[in-house]
Amino acid sequence: MAETLHIDDSSKAAHYSSLLPQIKALCDGENSSIANQANIIAALHHTFGFFWTGFYWATDENNLVLGPFQGPIACTRIEKGKGVCGKAWRDKKTLVVPNVEDFPGHIACSADSKSEIVVPLFKNKDVVGVLDIDSDTIGTFDEIDKKHLNTLCQWIGEHIV
Ligand code: SME
Repeated sequence: MAETLHIDDSSKAAHYSSLLPQIKALCDGENSSIANQANIIAALHHTFGFFWTGFYWATDENNLVLGPFQGPIACTRIEKGKGVCGKAWRDKKTLVVPNVEDFPGHIACSADSKSEIVVPLFKNKDVVGVLDIDSDTIGTFDEIDKKHLNTLCQWIGEHIV
C-alpha cells in the first residue's frame, strides 16, 4: 500500500485524475468497508483541504446516519428529503450547492460551511448512502467535481459498500 499520495495539482481535473487511482489502490486487498471508507475520506479531505468530508449511510427507508468523516462534529441523522443530503438521496442525483444560504432547507451543521456537493452512492439501483463534502468558501464545487466524484462514488458503490 502506498503510504504517500502523489497529487498533480496543475488543475482540479488533474488532482482528481491523479488521486482516484491511488484511492482504488489504497483499498485494494482490504475487505473492511469501514477501513476503506475512512481512508477514502482522509485522502479526499486532506489532499483538497475541504472543510468537511464524510459519508452518510441509509439505516432504513427514511434515515441517513453519519459515517466515517473528517472535519468538525456533524449532525448524526438526516431524514430522507431533508437538507442537501436527504434531497440528493430522494432525487437520486448529485447536488452542487454554490451557496448553502440559497438552498431551501439546507442543514447547517456548521455556520462555517459555505458551499457543498452531495453525491448519492448506489448499490444496484438503490441509493444506500451519500458522500457529502463541504467547503468554507462559496462556489468551490462545479461540473469537474461532479464528474469525478460521480465516477468515484460509482466505484465505491460497486466495491466498497
Ligand atoms: N449540510 C448537510 C448536512 C450535513 S453537514 O453538512 C456535514 C445537508 O444540508 O444535508
